Amino acid sequence: MSLRDRIATPAGKRRTVRTIFATIADRYDFITVLLSYGQDRRWKRRLIDLASPRPGARALDLATGTGDIAFALAAHGARVVGLDITLRMIELARDKVAPRTLGFLVGDMLALPFPSASFDIVTTGYGLRNVADLVAAIDEIHRVLTPGGQLLSLDFNRPSNRVVRSAYLAYLTVVGAALGWVLHRNTDTYRYIPASIRQYPGAAAVARLFEARGFAGVRCYPVLGGLMTIHHAIRT
Ligand SMILES: C[S@@+](CC[C@H](N)C(=O)[O-])C[C@H]1O[C@@H](n2cnc3c(N)ncnc32)[C@H](O)[C@@H]1O
Repeated sequence: MSLRDRIATPAGKRRTVRTIFATIADRYDFITVLLSYGQDRRWKRRLIDLASPRPGARALDLATGTGDIAFALAAHGARVVGLDITLRMIELARDKVAPRTLGFLVGDMLALPFPSASFDIVTTGYGLRNVADLVAAIDEIHRVLTPGGQLLSLDFNRPSNRVVRSAYLAYLTVVGAALGWVLHRNTDTYRYIPASIRQYPGAAAVARLFEARGFAGVRCYPVLGGLMTIHHAIRT
């Protein structure tokens, strides 16, 4: 079955995502620097600047991976939980030296183990594109945020221009296949990125979804010439 077919159903996408991130976890930090040409840190700093967490704010970083955004929030004085579905990612995050105000948890962002209105800020880096049910993820984020709380999400965009989109996805497919073969002897491992972008509604449609699911003041900040986007939204 092709990668595209495997991620076409929620159950198939969930299975594929879990396998891929368990496979790449130990090389995740290196791959992220490589694939973003070292820009990823800068994009995440921009997200944190937009959040501008006040000391003591309760923050939740979803799909935290090895914890970049969670650590940055904690460095600003927030009390942070980083949550990810992949045990190995959480183990790697826990291996880094964390302040007492930061903890990590294995969990599914589609069924968050927190009471309603528990957080002032929810962040996610490359999280929403990877979930099996985007609307359910947005609803869970809405539930755990306090009214007036902030949601910030950094992710790939799906360029609306057909020519740009085709060229961009073709580039990611070729680079992803080569990298997957060199690192894992599996061409699908990073071809998942363009495959998931194809399936993703794109930044403008995601912004409309936020509005439809109870967020206001939704802003899209383009990064990398609009190939990536930071969303910022306020829970009503
Ligand atoms: C591309 S990584 C992003 C890691 C980190 N946020 C960053 O910005 O570098 C995507 C992460 O999403 C996690 N993930 C995928 N589906 C998830 C879910 N349903 N709940 C929680 N985490 C999930 C994966 O395990 C993986 O660590």
